[in-house]
Amino acid sequence: MNRTNKQVIVAKRASGIPTEDVFTLTNSAAGPCPDGGVVVRVHYATVDPGMRGWLSAQKNYMTVPDGAVMRSHGVGEIVESRAIEWEAGDLVAGWMGWQQFAVVQASDLLWKIDQDLAPITAWAGILGLNGLTAWAGFRLMADPHPGEVIVVTTAAGAVGGVVGQLAVASGLRAVGITGGLEKALYAEQVLGFAEVIDYQSDKDIGQAISNACPNGVDIFFDNTGGPLADDVFPFLKVGARVIQCGTSSISSWSPTPSGPRRERDVLAKRLTWRGLLVFDHAAQFAAGREELVSLFAAGRLAQRDHILEGLEAAPAALSLLFAGKNKGRLLIKISEL
Ligand SMILES: NC(=O)c1ccc[n+]([C@@H]2O[C@H](COP(=O)([O-])OP(=O)(O)OC[C@H]3O[C@@H](n4cnc5c(N)ncnc54)[C@H](OP(=O)(O)O)[C@@H]3O)[C@@H](O)[C@H]2O)c1
Repeated sequence: MNRTNKQVIVAKRASGIPTEDVFTLTNSAAGPCPDGGVVVRVHYATVDPGMRGWLSAQKNYMTVPDGAVMRSHGVGEIVESRAIEWEAGDLVAGWMGWQQFAVVQASDLLWKIDQDLAPITAWAGILGLNGLTAWAGFRLMADPHPGEVIVVTTAAGAVGGVVGQLAVASGLRAVGITGGLEKALYAEQVLGFAEVIDYQSDKDIGQAISNACPNGVDIFFDNTGGPLADDVFPFLKVGARVIQCGTSSISSWSPTPSGPRRERDVLAKRLTWRGLLVFDHAAQFAAGREELVSLFAAGRLAQRDHILEGLEAAPAALSLLFAGKNKGRLLIKISEL
């Protein structure tokens, strides 16, 4: 079957935050379904902070080369299958890219979507890789105990919001940090954070953390690094755990930015500071999804979507994300369900 495929192609390396001119839009015919593969009509594709690293000229754990379709996670419907484990009509999540049709191998698909359990966009967020990132960092790495205090940066975002909700459901006191009053209120009122610090209006973040965590911080789930992390470190308790999940506030690692040194904190407070890469925990994804789905079913896991309409909106999406203007899980809607 001849399918016209609109795609967003990477035109060049990005220096810093990827701007619109890093991408071009093209139309071509989608390729045939490969042996052992599938063709997926993509409904929603994700926009993720990690993409900045994939588009950078610097060495990174993953890269998308010039001339390739922009890589992304997504959700869609299989329209043709030559893989025994998948059938046309299956709704799936997987590596789909910023395009209308993903012609991929079965190994690029992650899991089947059950719309009876949750709406399709949740499977690209709280029940997808964002949720599993939060779950892996919190449940497998942070050693949480009821009554402990956890501080979370990007608290109103896709990953940070799930960390906060998991913490609340596990009996911890969750303190969030986010940019803007509207996001702070959302994190407190909908996601259940006990307190949320708005770094755009709070003048003295250190004092705000001290007020919110008078007895110190047991777990720091950090998605930003940079100045916000600098403000949290002095309040970590002896034996505290730091999960480094993202570094959104650092615009470039070349050259490495300078800042306060933390070796003495690590030593004197016997900190555990661990880097998180979600795919290291793939063997545990089924357990993670089970916990997340049951929290969702119990009404204890919320997500709000920030949806951009059409692939034409994709090239500017990362600028919006890094301006902190996304209100919830940032997704590109590519076709109707
Ligand atoms: N390690 C892994 O395997 C893995 C996997 C997935 C995601 N992540 C990381 O998780 C973090 C959150 O990702 P997400 O998809 O949930 O995105 P998100 O939080 O929904 O959106 C990104 C947020 O980053 C914050 N931000 C952007 N620029 C900033 C800056 N200069 N200073 C401070 N904050 C800034 C903004 O939130 P605020 O206004 O709240 O600051 C923005 O809304 C990212 O760092 C991402 O790289 C890691």
